[in-house]
Amino acid sequence: MPRCIVIGAKGFIGSAVAAEAARRGYAVVPVDRANYGECAGQSADLLIQAGGNSRKHLDERNPAEGFALSVESVRQVLLDFHPRHFVHVSSGAVYPHEEDPARNREDAPLAPGGMTHYGFHKWLAEQLVRHYAADHLILRVGGCVGPGLRKNALYDLLSGGPSFVHPDSEFQYMDTRDLASAVFQLHEIGLASGTVLNLSARGTVSIRQAAAWAGVALSAAAGLPRRRVELDVGRAAALVPIPETADVVRRFIREVRDGSIHLGRD
Ligand SMILES: NC(=O)c1ccc[n+]([C@@H]2O[C@H](COP(=O)([O-])OP(=O)(O)OC[C@H]3O[C@@H](n4cnc5c(N)ncnc54)[C@H](OP(=O)(O)O)[C@@H]3O)[C@@H](O)[C@H]2O)c1
Repeated sequence: MPRCIVIGAKGFIGSAVAAEAARRGYAVVPVDRANYGECAGQSADLLIQAGGNSRKHLDERNPAEGFALSVESVRQVLLDFHPRHFVHVSSGAVYPHEEDPARNREDAPLAPGGMTHYGFHKWLAEQLVRHYAADHLILRVGGCVGPGLRKNALYDLLSGGPSFVHPDSEFQYMDTRDLASAVFQLHEIGLASGTVLNLSARGTVSIRQAAAWAGVALSAAAGLPRRRVELDVGRAAALVPIPETADVVRRFIREVRDGSIHLGRD
């Protein structure tokens, strides 16, 4: 039975990855902060690094803490574990132009000076992976929804919290369960080491559209920033099935409403 180490296995993405690994017949070593010390030193066929910080504002407010969570922790994982293949969950935030798929293809030139602190830290972590992991795949993931969602504009909408973005903001969302499945499919293709892929669903959905589907009335939007995130997912879509964001969002709203999945802070 192949062994799969999942770093961040109690997290939003890591928990979906650990569940998918088990479903695919791997012997799963779920690693969280509490058991990290006892797991360190293990080898495996595959390690999926889904730890690290996902709160973008933390890095902007406190770059030292963001660096420790997203860069130093990845270096530690690279030194502490010995997998044959290393899959690193990075972020589309490495692109200074997350809003424009014509400017965020995987081969877009990346200048650290134009990045947010969060994006810079994710990019630095990628460099560590390139240096230390002999056989690696880097996935630049876009926005996600799924069981246990605890933050983003769709979470705010469905949990009844205040909104921090203009309703005409558009986002791209992949369900963590589909994402986890795609991660294993991409790994199993046996891509060349060093491959970098953007991974999200196709197209965008506005918060206004999602609110209409959810039957939620939007409150006043004056002064809220209008945001747009859409990664070019053409390369990944040529390799594995990639859903449409509109289908992902409709299914997510339906599952939250019928209670088959729950938001993280319900
Ligand atoms: N969520 C998204 O929409 C999204 C989109 C694109 C990319 N990503 C990237 O995906 C990664 C995971 O995001 P997420 O949303 O799943 O975040 P999350 O829910 O906070 O999960 C991360 C998990 O990793 C744990 N962790 C952190 N450092 C660790 C370490 N050294 N050893 C073991 N466990 C550790 C965290 O524990 P604690 O809770 O105790 O800190 C947490 O349980 C991040 O790097 C993020 O940038 C996320």
